[in-house]
This record gives sequence, structure tokens and C-alpha cells, in this order.
Amino acid sequence: MTAPITERDIKWATSLPELEPGPISVEPYVSAEFYQKEKQKVFKKAWLEVARVDEIPEVGDFLVSKMECWDSEIILVRGKDEKIRGFHNICPHRGMKVSRCQESGGPFGDADVYQKGHGHVFVCPFHGWTYNLDGSLRPIVGEEYMPEGFDRSENGLPQIGVDVWNGFIFVNYQAQPEQSLREFIDPLAQDMDDFPFEEFNHIARYSARCKSNWKAFIDAFQEAYHAVFLHGRSIPDCGATPEYGVPNSVRVYGPHHSISMWANPAHQPTPAETIAWKYGVSFTPGAGNNMGGLNPSGDDNWWFDINVFFPNFFVDVGPGWYFTYNFRPVSENETVWIMNIYQKAAATPSEKIAQEHTKVILRDIVYEDLSTLEEAQQMLESGVLTHLNVTNEMEVAVRHQHATVMEWVNREESA
Ligand code: FES
Ligand SMILES: [Fe+2]
Repeated sequence: MTAPITERDIKWATSLPELEPGPISVEPYVSAEFYQKEKQKVFKKAWLEVARVDEIPEVGDFLVSKMECWDSEIILVRGKDEKIRGFHNICPHRGMKVSRCQESGGPFGDADVYQKGHGHVFVCPFHGWTYNLDGSLRPIVGEEYMPEGFDRSENGLPQIGVDVWNGFIFVNYQAQPEQSLREFIDPLAQDMDDFPFEEFNHIARYSARCKSNWKAFIDAFQEAYHAVFLHGRSIPDCGATPEYGVPNSVRVYGPHHSISMWANPAHQPTPAETIAWKYGVSFTPGAGNNMGGLNPSGDDNWWFDINVFFPNFFVDVGPGWYFTYNFRPVSENETVWIMNIYQKAAATPSEKIAQEHTKVILRDIVYEDLSTLEEAQQMLESGVLTHLNVTNEMEVAVRHQHATVMEWVNREESA
């Protein structure tokens, strides 16, 4: 008989919804047809995070982002009234991309993520139709040749829904979504409202285009079972003890969930970690937590919280750092993954060293995380397996995400 992996029980901070206890079907991870349904039923319905407000801080700043899961591309722009609006990047004349922004690809040069620009109008490169920052169409050359009944005020850039929570810009395919952003993300968002996001600096971005289904990608970041083996070298005694595989506490909020990680109280910091924690904070477990919006279940030996906003956005928070993941599906077997890391602003060179430690240790860990995905996807596509054998408690987030996707995909269209 196998010994239990730990004597420690998970704290279920909310009641767990009914989850199928059996194996999980492989089909949603490999089927092009299933992915088409996900685009319609999940990605065109849910609020999706795209960027932070400080990426377009000035009036006229905009960014252009691919939205493969909508088969579209979007523009997010800060208007003259400081409000951030969003549009599909398409000209209502004959469909040209209004912005062909060819700049460096954001502050870190990663064009896969988005491209940025600045201007006071958008001019379509085809026939010159020109749009204000609020998307409205300005007088056009040759307007007198348009057929009777053409109304300029009805032919601005096609709008999308945009709203902001704690500096995170979320978009919705529907210009008037059925649910407000807040209605959609609460009460998970409430648990994090006191976290001082605005006091943090962006310190690193890692991104990758990976031949993996978006859900398989997400699953690799929402359970710690794999840390016991896969991260056994990079974070030995704070990842690879059996207890680590079991979350401290779990909260499930509608389609979203949040998991608190357990920190080994016997953790021995490496020399580099010791220096980092002497002068600042780092990702590895260290001194206590004096920030709001963390450890919502009041766990002992708490390390950090993994907050998963359905369908594809994570905010992992710790005492002095946070990082986000966006998992942007490109097709049923390709995903663009973006990780942004933020840390309390460094006031001294020593604090900067602590930031560097976070940057580097996270880089090593996510390399390990990414190392399994493409090979797993290849084999899932072999058709050899029809089902996956997932644990209950340790991979509860995998089960919940899967159940939520199935629920949304199978939902009847509302009238
Ligand atoms: S397609 Fe944009 S002006 Fe003609
Ligand atoms: Fe991992």
C-alpha cells in the first residue's frame, strides 16, 4: 500500500462544486472542433485580461494586440478623457487593419505580445478614413459619393467591452457584455483588492510560443504535484518535499479559483537567497507577510497564492512580489504564454539585487515548467490515450478548470 503523500489536510475555504471524480477526456486537449466551440462559448463570452494601464499611460498611447481566440486583432487606446477604450483593428470601409503599428513590439521587444504606438487619430492606410481616439469616424474624402442612408456616426471602429480592475485591463468581445467585469471576477477579486498593486514595478517579462493546448499549458501552472519531481533541483526543499504537492488551502469562486501554496518550515535558503532576503524580498519563502490581499485563508506556513481568473489569466501574489500569466490560445495545439513579473519598487542597489534573484529563480523554474509541454501535446495527439488519470486533491484546480470549460462549451446559447 502506498503511504499518503502528506498528513496535512487541505483547507477547503469554500465548498467545492460537484466535480466528476473519474478520468478526464483527452479530446478537449487535441480537437480542432472542440477549440472552435471554446472560441465561441468561452473566449467570446468571458472577460479576458490583456495588459496593465501603465503600458498606455498618456493620452493617445495605444497598443495593438492579436486576439487569435476571437480571430481578430484589437486596439486599446487612452482617449482625451483619459478613458481606455477598445476596438477591433478593422476599418468599416473595406476591412483593412487601421493600425499597422510596426514599432518595437512593446517595451521589451516581444512583438508576439503586442505592439505599441502613440497618436491623436488612427488613419486607415487604404483610403485614409480617419478615426478619433474614441473610435468615431471623422469626415471622409468622397463622402458625397456614399449611398444615401450612410451614416458616419454609425461607422466608427467596432467597439469591444473594456474595463479595469486594480490596473489590469480586461476586454470582452461583446461591446455591451451581459455581466460587468466586477460581477464576473468577484469574489475572487475582492480577496485581492487590498493588495497594493500600484506600488510595484515591472521587473521582467518572459514569453513563449509553444505547441501546446492552452488548457494543458494552464494545468502545468496550477498544481504543485509536479514540483515534487520536476522542480526537485531548482527549488529543492521548498518544492520537492512530498507535502509541497498538497495545497494549504483552496477557494473556488464560480469559474475562478485560488490556491495557497505550502512553504516548508524547514527550508534552508541558499547563499544567494540569504543575500536577497537580507536586503529585500524574493520569490522563495522568507520573512513574514505584511501586505493586504494575501493569504486569504490565514494559513500557517503560507508561501504564496495562485489566483486563476477563468479562462486564461493568473495573478500569483507573495509578500513583495507578484507575477501574472496570460495563456493566449492560437489554435487547439498552440499557445502564446506571457509572464510579467512585478516587485516592490527598489529604493537601493541592494534591493535591486533581491529583485534580480526573483527574476532569475523564476526564469529557471518556468524553463522547467515549459520543458514538458510540447512532448506531452505530441503524445496526446497520437490518439493512444483517451483519458487522463488526474488526482483529486492535489490537482483539484485541473479538475475545476476542465469542468468549467465543459460547462461553458455545453451551455445553451442565451436568447
Ligand atoms: S479600407 Fe479603410 S479606408 Fe478603405
Ligand atoms: Fe512548476
